[in-house]
Amino acid sequence: MTRNVLLWASVCLFNVVTLVAPWDPDAGIVKSMTKLSGVQVWATSNNDSAHKVLDNDDNTQWTSNNCLPMDYISRSDQNILYGLCPERCHSNNPQDQDLDKITDGMTITATKINPWTENVRKASFQIILPESTIQVLSIWGIYKDNTKVITVDGSGHETDIRLLNVTDSYHEIRINNLSGVSVLKIESPHDFILKEISALGTKGCAERIVIDLGQVQRIGVVRTRHWAGAKAAVSAKLVMSNDQKVWTTVKELVPDALGAVETVLSPPVEYRYIAVDYEVFSANYRHVYCWEIDAWGEHSKWGPVPTPVPQENTVREILGVNGIWGWGHNIYSDSITAGEGPYLYNQISSHARNYHNLNWDVLDPDFSPRFEQMAKSHGTNATWWLNWDREYSTWQKAGLYVDVSLQFTAKDFPESSWNTPERSAFQYGEEFASHFGQAIGNGFVDAVEVGNEPWDYHSGFYASLLKAMASGIRAVDTNITVLSGAFQAHDENADNPPSGNYIGTRVKEDAIGNVSVLNTHAYSFISTENGQRIATYPENQSSTFNSIRNILRWRDTNCPSKPIWLTEWGWDSDGENEACKNSECVSENAQALYGVRGLLMITRHQIQKATWYFYANLDNCDTLFCRSGLTSSKMHNFTKKAVFQAFETVLQMIGDKYFLNVFKEDSGGYVYLFGQQMNNPDATSNKVKSFEKATHIVAWLPVDAANTTSTSITMDLPRAVNVLNGWRITGATPPKLKATEDITVDGSHMSLNISSRPLIVEIVHPDHAGEIVG
Ligand SMILES: *[C@@H]1O[C@H](CO)[C@@H](O)[C@H](O)[C@H]1NC(C)=O
Ligand SMILES: *[C@@H]1O[C@H](CO)[C@@H](O)[C@H](O)[C@H]1NC(C)=O
Ligand SMILES: *[C@@H]1O[C@H](CO)[C@@H](O)[C@H](O)[C@H]1NC(C)=O
Ligand SMILES: *[C@@H]1O[C@H](CO)[C@@H](O)[C@H](O)[C@H]1NC(C)=O
Ligand SMILES: *[C@@H]1O[C@H](CO)[C@@H](O)[C@H](O)[C@H]1NC(C)=O
Ligand SMILES: *[C@@H]1O[C@H](CO)[C@@H](O)[C@H](O)[C@H]1NC(C)=O
Ligand SMILES: *[C@@H]1O[C@H](CO)[C@@H](O)[C@H](O)[C@H]1NC(C)=O
Ligand SMILES: *[C@@H]1O[C@H](CO)[C@@H](O)[C@H](O)[C@H]1NC(C)=O
Ligand SMILES: *[C@@H]1O[C@H](CO)[C@@H](O)[C@H](O)[C@H]1NC(C)=O
Ligand SMILES: *[C@@H]1O[C@H](CO)[C@@H](O)[C@H](O)[C@H]1NC(C)=O
Repeated sequence: MTRNVLLWASVCLFNVVTLVAPWDPDAGIVKSMTKLSGVQVWATSNNDSAHKVLDNDDNTQWTSNNCLPMDYISRSDQNILYGLCPERCHSNNPQDQDLDKITDGMTITATKINPWTENVRKASFQIILPESTIQVLSIWGIYKDNTKVITVDGSGHETDIRLLNVTDSYHEIRINNLSGVSVLKIESPHDFILKEISALGTKGCAERIVIDLGQVQRIGVVRTRHWAGAKAAVSAKLVMSNDQKVWTTVKELVPDALGAVETVLSPPVEYRYIAVDYEVFSANYRHVYCWEIDAWGEHSKWGPVPTPVPQENTVREILGVNGIWGWGHNIYSDSITAGEGPYLYNQISSHARNYHNLNWDVLDPDFSPRFEQMAKSHGTNATWWLNWDREYSTWQKAGLYVDVSLQFTAKDFPESSWNTPERSAFQYGEEFASHFGQAIGNGFVDAVEVGNEPWDYHSGFYASLLKAMASGIRAVDTNITVLSGAFQAHDENADNPPSGNYIGTRVKEDAIGNVSVLNTHAYSFISTENGQRIATYPENQSSTFNSIRNILRWRDTNCPSKPIWLTEWGWDSDGENEACKNSECVSENAQALYGVRGLLMITRHQIQKATWYFYANLDNCDTLFCRSGLTSSKMHNFTKKAVFQAFETVLQMIGDKYFLNVFKEDSGGYVYLFGQQMNNPDATSNKVKSFEKATHIVAWLPVDAANTTSTSITMDLPRAVNVLNGWRITGATPPKLKATEDITVDGSHMSLNISSRPLIVEIVHPDHAGEIVG
C-alpha cells in the first residue's frame, strides 16, 4: 500500500515535469480494419445504402433491391439470359428484326416474330440456354392463340410446358424449376411479339456486399451482423479475396442469426476484400440485409495479452463477492443466523460490494439523504426504516472491506430530475463521505463507486456527475477509495443510452484526479453462429472476458498509477438442486473450474480486486445472472456450490501468495508462478528472480470443462526444485485430489500432466530447507 502511494507520487511528478503522455480517451481500442480511412464498400444492388455496414451502428442496414419480380431482369449478374440475343437466338423468319431486344433487360422494347411460310406456317423463336437448371423463367409478350412454350433437352427431345393465348399478353409468364433443358422454344401458327425473356439460374438471386480494405491485411477475426431478414435468404457466406476474381469461402453463415457473429481465422490470413454473399429466396419482393461488418487482426478487438507483471496483492486480497443488504435474508446482517450472510461469504472474500440504491437514500437527487438522522434510527429521506450503519458495520465486523456501489440510473432518476446536477452530486458525495468515511465519518465504508452501471445517462451528463460527486467526497475525505461506475474500453461506439458504457466519454481527464480506482465488469461470453450469446471458458480468445486487456491499456496510457477493480465477473450454473435455463449457463463443474482459472488470470492481469457476481442464486427466475451464485438461493438454504468449495481450496493453498510470472500461456497450456511478493516488481521482471520467489506452479489446459483431454508438458525451469506436493482442483466434490503422480521433476526438468482442471504444484528450492518429498 505504501509503495503504491510512493509509486503514484513519483509517476505523477515525473509526468508533470517531463513526460506528459497525452490523454487518450480511446487508448483501449483496437480499431476495426473496416473503419480505417481508405476503406470502401459497394453492393450488388442499392449501393446507396451500402455505407451503413460501416457506420458503427448494428441497427442500420444495407438493404438489397427486390430481385423478383423485376429487378433482376436488367442485371447481368443475376439474369443468365441477359444480352444473349442475337448470338444464341434464332427465329424461323430471317426477316425478324432486333432479336437483341428480347434479352436487353427491358420489358418495354419488343420484337415481332413472324411466321415462315415456305414449309409450314409457323412463327418460331428459340434461345440456347447457358445453364440447364433454371430456377425462374419469365416471358413477356403479346400473343394470339396457341402459342407454345417448349423445352428441348440435351438429346433433342421436346416438351410442351405451357400454352399461351391472348389473355397471357403483357403479363409476366413465370415458369419455375426447370432442369435438364438446353434450348427454349416459343412457337405459334400466328405471329407474336416478344418483349423480354429472362431467367435465374443455379445461383438464383445472388447479392454481395464487398468491403475493400484498400490494402492487404492480416485478418484474424471478422464480425458480421448479417441477419438477412425473415425468410429472406437461402444462404449467406463470408467470402474473401485479394483480387475480386478468386473468392475463398471462409465460413457458411447462418442467415437467420439475429445477433452479430464472429468468425475466427486461425491462423490469420491475408486478404484485401471481405464480402458477404447472399442467395435470396426466389420469390417476389424478397431482399436481404447486412447491418455491420468489422475485422481485426489475430488478437481481435482485445489486442495482445499484456506483459506479465508481479502482483502486489495476494490471491485472497483480490477475491471478493457482490452482496446486497441482508444477503437474501431480508433482515439486517446483524440479525442473520451465525455462519450465514457476511459470515458465510467472508470465508472466501476479502471484500464485499453492495448495490446501494440512491433511491433508498433520497426521493429526489437534489434532496439530502440526512444520514445523521438515519444514524438516530429516523431513516433516510426515502426509506423510513433504513440504517446503513447497522448493515455496513456488520460487514466490517465479518472482516470484509466494504465497497459501496452507489446505484443510480436514468430509469430511477432521469436527467431532468437533477435540477442542479453538479451541486446535488457534490453535496451527496460530501454527505456520504462525511458520514461513512474514515476521515471524519464512522469509517464503515472503505470504497465508493459513483454509479454501478449508469449507462442510460448521456455520457456528458454522467461525466459531470462523476467529477462533482468525486470532488464532493474528496472535499471531506482523502482516504476513502473513489471509483467511477463500471465501464469498458474496447467499444467506442457504446456511447449512447441505454447502454453507453464506454469509458472514453465518461471518465474524463478533468475528473480523474479525484478518482482513485478504475472500475469494470467482464463476463466470459461468446456468440454462437446463430448469434446466440453463450458463456465460455475465460481463456477463449473470443471471450468478452478479454476486455480486461483493453481497460488495462487504457489505464496504462491515461493513469498508470491507478488500480483496476473488476467489480463483476462470474458464470451462471446449475447445481445444489437449482436448474439453470438461460443460454449462458455452464455446468456446476465448469463454473468452479472457470472461476478458479478466471481468478488466476485476474491475478495475472494486474487487477487489484475482483468481485464475484453473485453471492447466491436468486429465487424463482430463469434469466441471465439468476444462477451465478457461489451458493444456492435462500430456498435451498444458501448451500455452497462447487465454485465456493473450489475457491476455498485455492485460497487454502495459495491464498497468501502473489502471482509472479507466466511460464507458458498458449493453447498447449497455461503455467503461472505464485509465491512470495517481489520486492521490486517491474514489468520486465526477470524470469530467474521471480522463479526464486515461487512456491507454487499452477498449470492447466485452456479448454472447455467438459473436455477430458490430458496432455503432458515438459518445462525447463530456471533452477532445480523439489516438489513438495501436488493437487488437482476438481471443480466437484471432493474439491481437490492428490496429483503427485502427474508431476515428475528431475533437477530443473519438470513434466506435468495437465487438463482443464488446474494442477497446483508446491515446490521448494533445494537451498531452502530439507523437507523434500519428490
Ligand atoms: C457504392 O457506394 C459507395 C459509397 O457508399 C461509393 O463509394 C462507391 O463508389 C459506390 N460503388 C459503385 C460501384 O457504385
Ligand atoms: C387462355 O388460357 C387460359 C389458361 O391458361 C384459359 O383459362 C383461358 O380460357 C384461355 N383464353 C382463351 C381466350 O382461350
Ligand atoms: C423450386 O425448387 C425448390 C427446391 O426444390 C423448392 O424449394 C421450391 O419451392 C420450388 N419452387 C416452386 C415455385 O415450385
Ligand atoms: C425529503 O427531502 C425533501 C427535501 O428536503 C423534503 O421536502 C421531504 O420532506 C423529505 N422527506 C422525508 C421523508 O424526509
Ligand atoms: C477534487 O476534489 C477537490 C475537493 O473537492 C477539488 O478542490 C478539486 O478541484 C477536485 N479535482 C478534480 C480534478 O476534480
Ligand atoms: C485509510 O485509513 C485507514 C485507516 O486509518 C488506513 O488503514 C488506510 O491505509 C487509509 N487508506 C488510504 C488510501 O490512505
Ligand atoms: C471458444 O469457445 C467455443 C465454444 O466452446 C469454441 O467453439 C471455440 O473454438 C473457442 N474459440 C477459441 C478461439 O478458443
Ligand atoms: C433448509 O433448512 C430448513 C430449515 O432448517 C430445512 O427444513 C430444509 O430441509 C432445508 N432445505 C434444504 C434444501 O436443505
Ligand atoms: C479437447 O482439448 C484438446 C486440447 O486442446 C483438443 O485438441 C481437443 O480438440 C478438445 N476436444 C474437444 C472435444 O473439444
Ligand atoms: C501422466 O499420465 C500418464 C498416463 O495417463 C502417466 O503414464 C504418466 O506417468 C503421468 N505423469 C507424467 C508426469 O506425465
